[in-house]
Amino acid sequence: MVVVITGASAGIGAALARSLYEQKAHLVLAARRLDRLEALNRELGGQHLVVRADVSEPNDCQNIVQQTIRRFGRIDTLVANAGYGIYDPVVQTTPQQTREIFATNVFGTTDLVYAAAPFMFRQDQRDGWRGQIMIVSSVCGRRGVPFLGMYSGTKSAQLAIAEAMRVELEPHKIAVTTIHPIMTKTDFGRTAETRSRIVLPQEDRSRMTQSVEHVARRMIEAIRRPRPEVWPSQAARIVVGFGTLMPGLVDRVLSRYRDRVREKNPSVPL
Ligand SMILES: NC(=O)c1ccc[n+]([C@@H]2O[C@H](COP(=O)([O-])OP(=O)(O)OC[C@H]3O[C@@H](n4cnc5c(N)ncnc54)[C@H](OP(=O)(O)O)[C@@H]3O)[C@@H](O)[C@H]2O)c1
Repeated sequence: MVVVITGASAGIGAALARSLYEQKAHLVLAARRLDRLEALNRELGGQHLVVRADVSEPNDCQNIVQQTIRRFGRIDTLVANAGYGIYDPVVQTTPQQTREIFATNVFGTTDLVYAAAPFMFRQDQRDGWRGQIMIVSSVCGRRGVPFLGMYSGTKSAQLAIAEAMRVELEPHKIAVTTIHPIMTKTDFGRTAETRSRIVLPQEDRSRMTQSVEHVARRMIEAIRRPRPEVWPSQAARIVVGFGTLMPGLVDRVLSRYRDRVREKNPSVPL
């Protein structure tokens, strides 16, 4: 099994790599921080392919795929995981920040798919599938969250594209799976804070958090047996599912959260 993971230098991507190594997978570890990728490769036996890549650059996405095919000859699962968030109100996010986050989270996903799909179409089937495209969206992909508006937009875009692709690619025996974590213990929050003016209340951050190991386990189940969506928190799936029927009610719940964020950031005009 050959699994390509973008964003393998930290968080969910690194945890997935560690769990897949235990399953004897051949891994392709891609991200910008080469030192971290090389350390992970050493930790996992040193036989994996490490590719320095900025997924917001289309040529880097092509390069990940080309190097994978040269080394392993196929891609069983392509995990588009690289991404980041910004904590800011939508109207105070700059046009440049908006273009940049879409370039990484959305175009970093689509450029990877464009590069890999032609090879997946030609691969032999294994266990009924030629390959799988796995996209790490978020719980925010189904419902936009205040102060994570632009981030939510990128995650919804990933989800909508994946939903369409899943039906289009099924006759070609290419599975498409989206992953929808809730808050997960990674560097995500710290990275978002370095890019943002606001700080989220700690109690909201710690109320519903899950471990990277838990998310990775659920992802591996869907690599073994492809399914449309993975929600590592069933409770979140149910709440968000009902929420799509009652958007006004969800607005009211989220407006309490908005007020807690405003209290925590009195010097920022929100
Ligand atoms: N943590 C959460 O609460 C949470 C919840 C829902 C969904 N998610 C999603 O899960 C995915 C992984 O996030 P995480 O929580 O594991 O965060 P993380 O610990 O900050 O890891 C992010 C990973 O993405 C990589 N990355 C970021 N920009 C990149 C770029 N331009 N090119 C290549 N790699 C890039 C980083 O590597 P380098 O910096 O080395 O490039 C790093 O490996 C993201 O798509 C995120 O939206 C996270």
